[in-house]
Amino acid sequence: MIVITGGTGQLGRLVIAAVLKKMSASSIVAAVRNRDKARELAALGVGVRIADYNDPPAWDAALKGADKVLLISASELGRRARQHRAVIDAAKREGVKLLAYTSVLRADTSVLGLAAEHRETEAYLRASGVPHVLLRNSWYTENYTMGIPAIVAGGAMYGCAGEGRVSSAARADYAAAAAAVLTLPGQAGKVYELAGDGAYTHAEFAEELSRLTGRKIAYVNITEDEYREALRKAGLPDAYAAMIADSDTGASKGALFDDSRTLGRLINRPTTPMAESVAAALAGGP
Ligand SMILES: NC(=O)c1ccc[n+]([C@@H]2O[C@H](COP(=O)([O-])OP(=O)(O)OC[C@H]3O[C@@H](n4cnc5c(N)ncnc54)[C@H](OP(=O)(O)O)[C@@H]3O)[C@@H](O)[C@H]2O)c1
Repeated sequence: MIVITGGTGQLGRLVIAAVLKKMSASSIVAAVRNRDKARELAALGVGVRIADYNDPPAWDAALKGADKVLLISASELGRRARQHRAVIDAAKREGVKLLAYTSVLRADTSVLGLAAEHRETEAYLRASGVPHVLLRNSWYTENYTMGIPAIVAGGAMYGCAGEGRVSSAARADYAAAAAAVLTLPGQAGKVYELAGDGAYTHAEFAEELSRLTGRKIAYVNITEDEYREALRKAGLPDAYAAMIADSDTGASKGALFDDSRTLGRLINRPTTPMAESVAAALAGGP
């Protein structure tokens, strides 16, 4: 039996859909903090167990009988390493045979500020002795496509990534990778650096958007401080504005670039091209 944490999240739902193509619903459990949000999953026959990352004792029952666990990294910046420890400790107590963790590209050496909590979690996992596999994900293309309505409305895309190339892939591609490692044999000890087959600069993203909308949309490179302030003014909480601006600076230094094509090989198909994700977003998708 496989337990998937964050089962009601955007990545979690896609992972469950991908695992359902390979295993029966009765072999899958979604660990969620909100039962109401899991109604559709329960209707599919997927088991639902309630556990909050902030409630360590809840994870023993959530992981009971699990052979494998997918720990989808939590979303509260600054609290995540502690939250992840709760799941890893329970996995150890329950004798889980494989824990897959969604980390970030080259977490061990990454200049991204957000990599620190992933490094901490990876180190804790190693020390725990729980057999594990690392899914070190690069950027979701959706991180950019979700901003398309505002970019099109303002006629410009802002950022501080300079000429940095980003090897992003669709969330569904990373979900397929997670489903693969959860269902393939011999995954313990593996580290996958996962990224899109193609890479692009922010200017190229804006060019694609211009081409598809028929409107001139420029990429405007600003400083990290200016970008953080712009994000704050747009309503983002301080920590998230800082994280996004820092990540753009990281992208300018190549932190989100990878040309190993490991993701495409793992999922046995090309990753979703940026242009396809942009077109899908313009058509009303994510
Ligand atoms: N590689 C990238 O580009 C990228 C981008 C964004 C995020 N991420 C990371 O990847 C993860 C998955 O991405 P996503 O797009 O699926 O994010 P998401 O839609 O925000 O999903 C996060 C999931 O974590 C759950 N969660 C958050 N806090 C929790 C808590 N205290 N206890 C139990 N569950 C909790 C959420 O539960 P609810 O459904 O109840 O809210 C949700 O299911 C994120 O959490 C983040 O660590 C990566």
